[in-house]
Amino acid sequence: MKILITGGCGFVGSNLAIYFKNNRIGSKINSLDNLSRKGSVLNLNRLKKNKIKNFRIDVTNYKAIKKLPRYDFIVDCCAEAAVETSKKEIDKVFNTNLVGTFNILKKCAKDKSKLIFLSSSRVYTIKKLLKLEKNRSLISETFDTSGAKSIYGFSKLSSENLIHEFSFLHKIKYIVTRFGLIAGPWQFGKQEQGVVSLWMWRHINSKKLNYIGFGGKGSQIRDVLHISDVCKLITLQIKKINNIHNLTINAGGGSKNAISLKNLTKICEKITSNKIKISSKKTTSDYDIPYYVTNNSKVKKIYKWRPEKKILHIIQDMYKWMLSNKKVLKKYII
Ligand SMILES: NC(=O)c1ccc[n+]([C@@H]2O[C@H](COP(=O)([O-])OP(=O)(O)OC[C@H]3O[C@@H](n4cnc5c(N)ncnc54)[C@H](O)[C@@H]3O)[C@@H](O)[C@H]2O)c1
Repeated sequence: MKILITGGCGFVGSNLAIYFKNNRIGSKINSLDNLSRKGSVLNLNRLKKNKIKNFRIDVTNYKAIKKLPRYDFIVDCCAEAAVETSKKEIDKVFNTNLVGTFNILKKCAKDKSKLIFLSSSRVYTIKKLLKLEKNRSLISETFDTSGAKSIYGFSKLSSENLIHEFSFLHKIKYIVTRFGLIAGPWQFGKQEQGVVSLWMWRHINSKKLNYIGFGGKGSQIRDVLHISDVCKLITLQIKKINNIHNLTINAGGGSKNAISLKNLTKICEKITSNKIKISSKKTTSDYDIPYYVTNNSKVKKIYKWRPEKKILHIIQDMYKWMLSNKKVLKKYII
């Protein structure tokens, strides 16, 4: 079984590629990545050490993609993954996330490959998510997607729709997973994306942070999923594709792994023994949401999968990785 991972030098893609290699999932693992994300070169080195080839190709370049060998599976982890960036860099988000999926689908149709697509919890309507601040119910796949959801969320939901079209016409077997917040080693956090990584890095290095929006008190809540649980789920999806396919599912850390920014700070302070200055910015971004926690019922039922790594373990794991790679990471995380 041959597998291509797009965005293979990113946080999720690189961990997945090495997990596949270590667990003998597939006879050949390749990556496609243009190395545009800060830190992706470090992941490229990890792939090289594991004898995984990366094709340095832009996902918008179909001519180059078409020439790649045939794969049994394409795992699409390539994206401009930051919600806030999608406000300012619309063209980049639209091209990478939507045209990119379109190109990957054309390649799947040509080669009769199966597709594993990493979608996002941000496909859901912002106005409806805002209403959950008080009643705090878990978000399942049937939650509203009809309203505005950020350009990033739009690009992901539109990609899902494109997948349905191609699957219908070309009989492509696919699984779409709408992941919530993922965290773990080799995540290069920045203000716009990768909050657990950013939070821990700033604590380790005694740098400032901001609580932005919703009163500026760090009250936003997210559920966090460890990257190793993502790798296990995607492996199950690949192994079971002939029996289980053409589905859209949510997957996240769930209620046990839900944490507010304020509590993330407390845990980071405890682990690092550092207390840093956190300023307050009251203006809320149009794209921010106060609360998101995944309902994992469907994914649990279908795959008998559940998140194994607890929130404390996830944060400790981040700390250990950062400490043992502190020198090199200084160039890539601010
Ligand atoms: N990290 C999360 O918390 C999270 C949550 C939900 C969904 N996702 C989805 O999972 C996938 C992986 O996310 P990630 O966190 O690993 O992101 P990442 O930014 O770490 O990785 C994306 C990779 O894609 C590459 N890339 C970007 N534009 C490209 C282009 N035009 N051509 C070729 N390569 C390009 C980047 O260099 C990078 O290595 C994305 O589809 C993202 O939307 C991530």
